[in-house]
Amino acid sequence: MSTVIPSKSTVDNLQEQARRHLWMHFSRMGGYSDEHEIPIISRGEGAYVYDAHGKKYLDGLSGLFCVNAGHGRTELAEAAARQYEELDFFVIWSYAHPRAIELATKIASMTPGDLNRVFFTSGGGEAVESALKLARNYHRMRGNGQKAKHIAREVAYHGTTLGALSATGVTNLRSQFEPLAPGGCHVPNTNIYRWPEEREPIWAADAIEERILFEGPETVSAVILEPVQNAGGCFVPPDGYFQRVREICDKYDVLLISDEVICAWGRLGHYFGCERFGYQPDIITSAKALTSSYVPMGAMIASDKVAEPFMEGEASFAHGFTFAGHPVAAAVALANIEIFEREDLCGHVLEKEGEFRGMLESLRDIPIVGDVRGAGYFQAIELVKDQETKQSFNKEESEKLLRGFLSGELYERGLICRADDRGDPVIQFSPPLICDTEQFEEMHDVLRPVLTEAAAMMRN
Ligand SMILES: Cc1ncc(COP(=O)(O)O)c(C=O)c1O
Repeated sequence: MSTVIPSKSTVDNLQEQARRHLWMHFSRMGGYSDEHEIPIISRGEGAYVYDAHGKKYLDGLSGLFCVNAGHGRTELAEAAARQYEELDFFVIWSYAHPRAIELATKIASMTPGDLNRVFFTSGGGEAVESALKLARNYHRMRGNGQKAKHIAREVAYHGTTLGALSATGVTNLRSQFEPLAPGGCHVPNTNIYRWPEEREPIWAADAIEERILFEGPETVSAVILEPVQNAGGCFVPPDGYFQRVREICDKYDVLLISDEVICAWGRLGHYFGCERFGYQPDIITSAKALTSSYVPMGAMIASDKVAEPFMEGEASFAHGFTFAGHPVAAAVALANIEIFEREDLCGHVLEKEGEFRGMLESLRDIPIVGDVRGAGYFQAIELVKDQETKQSFNKEESEKLLRGFLSGELYERGLICRADDRGDPVIQFSPPLICDTEQFEEMHDVLRPVLTEAAAMMRN
């Protein structure tokens, strides 16, 4: 692996070209200047990445919930190289190739219940898009063509394509692109920290039934939920939530889509997030860590029941993407899963998540730390103005706290994590699954002084 640090003029050139030509996603491009450079990450190894200047960072976000097996695995590069030599590319439209077959079979052997049919995509948004279309088409094939709406949760993120965006529940991501694809309805999420104490734990599941009844069960095709909701800051479900949702879905012939673009592949200590909470979805959507993001790949995994109408006679699911099931992506995914099994990464997460969480909990004495929540290696700290009353920061304060201070300061001190205010302000952590005590201590040593300083700044 090359460890050569580029010269200052090369880095300056990259900066200038990035500012001029690269359109970074979800980024305020106007915010970069000579004084505020674009972070250019040029190398990765294990739990760490290095910027173009050679500075080391702990990747506390695994890229973006992506590099679960850690950076710099030559084994994955070798799997890709071997595949390029054998078969560089072929589509899975009316053809198959060995790696796609092997990977689909492997995934089917790992999923809970009868989730045995794997429809590959190029990423997470496409997996969600595919699941929403499949749900509609499934009902139509069974003579229930009116069932076309889907129910998702407020503040949840399910992707940005117009269909997936209709499930995404983040208002300012939606409003600039309206009208969206029709059919998206939203219900409250499981932000338990902000619920009144006397509230029934499965209140939010019952809200799904209310919404189905309000829309008319004959018009609802699917409910789409993440096992732990990312946007808003790692909202975990209360006990019994998913069991109740499953009951409701069965009662009204509505499919349950478990959006596991983040929560699969060990993030919660299991191959699939639904296993952690003991529920059986009809469809799982996955991407990111399926290949540990060494190459782009997503998958929609459907149950035998849902796939069945498309498997007979002249029926087909009239939907696809050129790059889906790419042989190189499939080869890398297979090698990635081998690493997971050999190193028991899920077992490691289950063994160490308490320690990781304990480190974050130890920060509760800092006045700005309101809540610590999450599961596995997917945790968040919610930041508040007042720990007692749980009063949150207003928009301007949040802007000052997150973009004005925390994001830059944490990065400056060598920790990559996510300061986010799609709901109330939170910092999120999602480190590679290989992380251990040493990395938790490093995180702590950055977080404690930075959060203490942030608390003092917000008091003034
Ligand atoms: C739960 C969930 N669904 C869908 C997506 C969209 O995935 P992608 O960015 O690969 O299109 C994401 C992305 O983070 C996600 O977290």
